[in-house]
Amino acid sequence: MNIKRLRSFFPALSDGKKIYFDNAATSLTPKPVIDEVVSYYEKFGVNAGRGAYRLAFELSMKLEEARENVASFINASPEEIVFTFNTTDSINKLALSLDLKPEDRVLITQIEHHSNLLPWKLLEKNKEVKVDVLPVNEEGGIDIDLLDKYLKNKSKMFAFTAASNVLGTILKAKEMSDLAHTNGALVLIDAAQIVGHRKFDAREVGCDFAAFSAHKMCGPPGVGVLYIKKGAEKHLSPAFLGGGTVKEISGNQFFLREHPYDFEPGTLNIPGILGFNQAVKFVENIGLDNIERKIQNLYRFIINELSSNKNILLYNNTLEENVGIVSFNIKGVSPHQAAVAYDNLGNIMLRSGFHCAIPFVQAIGAKEGTIRASVAFYNTIEEAERFIEITSEVISAIK
Ligand SMILES: Cc1ncc(COP(=O)(O)O)c(C=O)c1O
Repeated sequence: MNIKRLRSFFPALSDGKKIYFDNAATSLTPKPVIDEVVSYYEKFGVNAGRGAYRLAFELSMKLEEARENVASFINASPEEIVFTFNTTDSINKLALSLDLKPEDRVLITQIEHHSNLLPWKLLEKNKEVKVDVLPVNEEGGIDIDLLDKYLKNKSKMFAFTAASNVLGTILKAKEMSDLAHTNGALVLIDAAQIVGHRKFDAREVGCDFAAFSAHKMCGPPGVGVLYIKKGAEKHLSPAFLGGGTVKEISGNQFFLREHPYDFEPGTLNIPGILGFNQAVKFVENIGLDNIERKIQNLYRFIINELSSNKNILLYNNTLEENVGIVSFNIKGVSPHQAAVAYDNLGNIMLRSGFHCAIPFVQAIGAKEGTIRASVAFYNTIEEAERFIEITSEVISAIK
């Protein structure tokens, strides 16, 4: 699809003026997704799976179709897909539902977003579970031999991100997952920055659990997925219950419904899930290979340009495959001040600070945080060129 037509699907890009480079936070929403969300309110507006009327039944069928489509997108079965509200919600639900006892060990990495750090730290505080943190190497990556050593610590769970939200680095998820299994640990992959950007095949990676959000792949906010591999539910006992989760209540006993419904208490974000279904279709239509190639080209261009500018401190120090995230600073300038200047001078939207990954940003030596530019498949090379031009203007204006 040519880029002009592709961009025409995104109403937020219609003024042609702003440059949106904050895609790692949330991607823009294409028209088919918006239309689907609106059509829920126009055609349905009711709850699903509860009513005895045809409209509720039709809506339930649409939700199950969404579940099937999301499942096949990551090569899973529908029963393995639990709809949640976002990645953070998925990880918290998993952490609280896992059969961990005091002194059991959970291993995470120093790269993690707070969403895959704090739910485990909370278990440490409230349940006396031990959380070990695998330190990163000098390039901000994972050393597999060191991981093996840490796993020998008898971790019950190894929870790690598939791609860093600070540097865009892609971790060797399959190798890490296999190593964890060899050492007897369960595996959770925080797939928030990979699903919809590159092929993510839950079966091939072999993880027991995975978490991701619709809003990072052209879907609406407020919808996430907790993938629970068939059989892995035996390690869980759902921590949140309510309407929709129970088959029968008799006296003070209750019997839960089958999986995945036992993990979906209360009313879900129905319009969000319908929109997510359209987002999956949209992304599939563009093609994950095309998306990956496009992001890689934009990333390479930006990295090459920034690395040759002596006023720039670049934290991405490799030209390896990346999900399109660049972290840098302008020497002597606070990241926040610089990001505001990009907005004022060039209408360029960037993020500044610690990107909800304080331990990692500190580990790469960015004491005050970084400026983060993150690209998507609907960005253009002209936008990347303009970003480089504005970088020179920002440097002259505030240095
Ligand atoms: C790697 C990673 N994990 C988790 C999250 C949290 O996602 P959400 O805010 O959708 O829960 C993000 C969001 O930036 C992320 O990049």
